[in-house]
Amino acid sequence: MDAVGVEPVTEAGPGTPVEVLPSDWAEQVRSLAAERDAVILAHNYQVPEIQDIAHHTGDSLGLSRIAAEVDASTIVFCGVHFMAETAKILSYDKTVLIPDERAGCSLAETITADELRAWKAEHPGAVVVSYVNTTAAVKAETDICCTSSNAVEVVESIPADTEVLFCPDQFLGAHVQRLTGRTNMHIWMGECHVHAGINGVELKARVEAEPDAELFIHPECGCATSALYLATTGVVPAERTKILSTSGMVTAARETSAAKVLVATETGMIHQLEQANPTTVFEPVNRAAVCKYMKMITPSKLLRSLRDGTDEVTVPLDVAERARRSVERMVAIGTPSPVAE
Ligand code: 13P
Ligand code: SF4
Repeated sequence: MDAVGVEPVTEAGPGTPVEVLPSDWAEQVRSLAAERDAVILAHNYQVPEIQDIAHHTGDSLGLSRIAAEVDASTIVFCGVHFMAETAKILSYDKTVLIPDERAGCSLAETITADELRAWKAEHPGAVVVSYVNTTAAVKAETDICCTSSNAVEVVESIPADTEVLFCPDQFLGAHVQRLTGRTNMHIWMGECHVHAGINGVELKARVEAEPDAELFIHPECGCATSALYLATTGVVPAERTKILSTSGMVTAARETSAAKVLVATETGMIHQLEQANPTTVFEPVNRAAVCKYMKMITPSKLLRSLRDGTDEVTVPLDVAERARRSVERMVAIGTPSPVAE
């Protein structure tokens, strides 16, 4: 058997490591998971091998729901650190592992618990809605968490005359504000470097070059505003422009009859879309939209995680208890996200 746990030896593209893996990698992963009584959860942005071996693949909301309900005593979370923390918050008695604890999130880093406390002090009585891409300490200061698939429903659940503090993603905040028409909503100016890098200029060029293609756009994208502008000015027919969470894209992929769909989000998404609909061509708007943090979770690190029980995710009990309230409200609101088994 070849060595396991090896580090990437070459780079096939931005952030896409190629590893030398044992030929029986998949069998080892499955058998170690069974021995450890572990369920493997993978986000839609993981590399294809990990999406395919996972027991469940989906978006942040769908995976949070599974983390809260699953019977296994260990959860191995193939995603970024805040997602594994969310699993720990919801299943505190379970062991939660992430194959590489350094897999952070540039968006989650844009607001700290101290900054949120200071912002709340400026707006007494406001309800705090935090996108799930935040640390456990920020969630502990939050009233309701949301994901991209239920952000609109979460904000609509708050009485119309109550101020809302929405953090940390400015593009998702602008999207929610547009759909709810809410004027008493304050938005934190954070952004994800991957999605902010998918800009309107690039999108316009792609749309003009592909006049028959549909457009799937994640609301964290810098181009979400521009896409709606293009749709309302007729450059892109409105019915072909869809602002969707990663799980919403999977549902839309199953339903579309378009020959081609341009996809504005992290490129890992393409794998699930191709599985959902093998006859449509799915093309990234920006091939460089690769989340280096998501790609820190590699097949060999997954094997090492299952073998050695690394890296364990911990959250202080008092923080987890306060954060759980806001996360449970998120899990309760909105339609369930599709998750691939
Ligand atoms: P989803 O909630 O749509 O899965 O997105 C999570 C994320 O990190 C987007 O970058
Ligand atoms: Fe965070 Fe952006 Fe990566 Fe999503 S794509 S995990 S928001 S850095």
